[in-house]
Amino acid sequence: MSLALKQTAASPVPGKKSGEIDPAAIRKDFPVLDRKFGGKPIVYLDNPATTQKPRAVIEAITRFYETTNANVHRGAYRLAEEATAAYEGAREKVRAFLNAATVEEIIFTRGTTESLNLVAYAWGRANVKSGDEILLTEMEHHSNLVPWQILAKEKGAALKHIPLDPDGVLDLAVAGKLISDRTRLVSVTQVSNVLGTINPVKDIARLAHDAGALICVDGAQSAPHMAVDVRDLDCDFFALSGHKMCAPTGIGALYVRKSVLEKMPPFHGGGDMIRQVFLDHATWNDLPWKFEAGTPDIAGAIGLGAAIDYLRGIGLDRIREHEKTLTAYALRKLGEIPGITLYGPPDPSRRGGVVSFNVDGVHAHDLATIVDRECAVAIRAGHHCAQPLMERLKVAATARAGFYVYNMEADVDRLAEGILKAKEIFKT
Ligand SMILES: Cc1ncc(COP(=O)(O)O)c(C=O)c1O
Repeated sequence: MSLALKQTAASPVPGKKSGEIDPAAIRKDFPVLDRKFGGKPIVYLDNPATTQKPRAVIEAITRFYETTNANVHRGAYRLAEEATAAYEGAREKVRAFLNAATVEEIIFTRGTTESLNLVAYAWGRANVKSGDEILLTEMEHHSNLVPWQILAKEKGAALKHIPLDPDGVLDLAVAGKLISDRTRLVSVTQVSNVLGTINPVKDIARLAHDAGALICVDGAQSAPHMAVDVRDLDCDFFALSGHKMCAPTGIGALYVRKSVLEKMPPFHGGGDMIRQVFLDHATWNDLPWKFEAGTPDIAGAIGLGAAIDYLRGIGLDRIREHEKTLTAYALRKLGEIPGITLYGPPDPSRRGGVVSFNVDGVHAHDLATIVDRECAVAIRAGHHCAQPLMERLKVAATARAGFYVYNMEADVDRLAEGILKAKEIFKT
């Protein structure tokens, strides 16, 4: 764990609440943040796309390959037993992180996209039929739209979408009317990767369950930034990506409520997911391995476990508070720039640490290039894999800054400086 937490009793920091995190100290845990461009240390604000990796995670992966590498669940020898224990230990960390009831409910996947496809493929094909409805929202990432589009087309089911109000908040009154006894599933993001809006997943879960539907939560932008309790949310499915929470790319997880998972047919077929195979049929392994065919990303899972240790060491509630404060600062600071449009709820307590914006007279891509070249600030520009939302906002693209544990107010200042430079260059 890092030195990042201010030791509240021993070293109170004037003007800082006890327990507040110190991003300047946290930065030291992330080797890539030592990089400089044009003599300036990098300001990394593309966190909704992927986060940087702390040394603790990098070392956990290296240690695994240097000391423990073997395939899991197969070997009778000690190295394989150790590898299996490390891999299954990581699963327990994910379980605790999400407060799932049992490790049987945690499936390792490649990330949120694969998790949602697993739900659409394995649960969807067994449970959705012609005339059924799947309820989504207008703010979803493509990975929470396209799998359902494929399923709906195949089954003759209909897709409906909860609309947004002008602040980018879901209209729950309309949601209530859209849910009916034909609704099989409501699938919704907990935090928008464009607007930052935090959706009231618990309320939506209640609406879904009252109508006899299940609820699937896209947790790609929430799990890294706030404490998640799948039992408190009362969700049936919850998807996350490791790489958005300090872990490596290529690893993620899917939580499925056990009573739902027990009735689901497998996703992929192959090794490890079987109990017995005959020439013409097979029987399935126990949960959760029934849903993990083939050799998994063992080192990735161990890296995810290390990332969870790292984030829990800092404290998810502290991370959330830090990002809330930083977002409030960013909304104020960027809001002062003439010609800027900020998207999403104006109230920082209703949003995660994502701020999307456009500047009159400067295309979002030019903005991203200029803030990088002039100020070494990494932001994203584009449709953010949310083209229907861009359509709803009536824009082709936005620029987007997203914050994490290692970001601070000075990073926002540097971004603002870069935006002003871009305005100067474009004479707007
Ligand atoms: C809200 C949301 N859902 C899903 C995804 C897809 O995640 P991944 O590419 O890690 O599968 C993202 C990635 O940006 C996202 O922001």
